[in-house]
Amino acid sequence: MTDEVASVIGRLDVEAVRAAYWRQNEFVCLERWLPPELVARLVAEVETVRPAVHRNYIPKHKKGGSVSYFTLVEQAPAILALYRSPAFLTFLATVTGRPVMRCPETDPHSCALYFYTEPGDHIGFHYDTSYYKGTRYTVLLGLIERSSSRLVCQLFKGEQGREPVELRLATDPGTLVLFNGDKLWHAITPLGEDEERVSLTMEFLTDAGMHPVKRFVSNMKDAVAYFGFRAVFLGVTRHASRASQ
Ligand SMILES: [Fe+2]
Repeated sequence: MTDEVASVIGRLDVEAVRAAYWRQNEFVCLERWLPPELVARLVAEVETVRPAVHRNYIPKHKKGGSVSYFTLVEQAPAILALYRSPAFLTFLATVTGRPVMRCPETDPHSCALYFYTEPGDHIGFHYDTSYYKGTRYTVLLGLIERSSSRLVCQLFKGEQGREPVELRLATDPGTLVLFNGDKLWHAITPLGEDEERVSLTMEFLTDAGMHPVKRFVSNMKDAVAYFGFRAVFLGVTRHASRASQ
């Protein structure tokens, strides 16, 4: 996967991507970026980890399932190879103009799968706020798209002198969306009957430092809203001890 990702990026007009990213206030969408044969390898891993999906429901905000980084590390080598690809990191640094890095091994969101599988699954409007000292970038990659759900993005929200621009995107298999988490106001609209949508998100940072109080708040949010207490706190303990070995 590492070599294949490098060659996909090698074929991109990175300068054009960079220009589009900045023209749209740190947001860019690359339709069908990853070829179907590589998407198929990632989707095979979606099926492997499906039994580990943790479902959650926060009234008026979100409903859906997720699989954390801790599970992907153990069961999804191709997804991890994409997340850890040096060429991908260089590509992101070139587009954003910042020295980006991956999240610490203890962050369950570093790279995670989001499952929209039941009618009404959705997430309300939010920013991908950074709990870290640095800027947080989100990369979203569509893997399974058999739904009427849309990723609704409001570009330029809160920017002085600019009218917001709203986009409604289908995240088709292989479609990549990159944005600065503090700048893009976004949501996923509710899933219909007999529909399914699965996406991969990968998080990157400019500074992985975090105040301990923010770390606690971040872990609590992950436990309640995403992966469950068992996954977050056992996972953090296990990965913290692994990281210190
Ligand atoms: Fe988000």
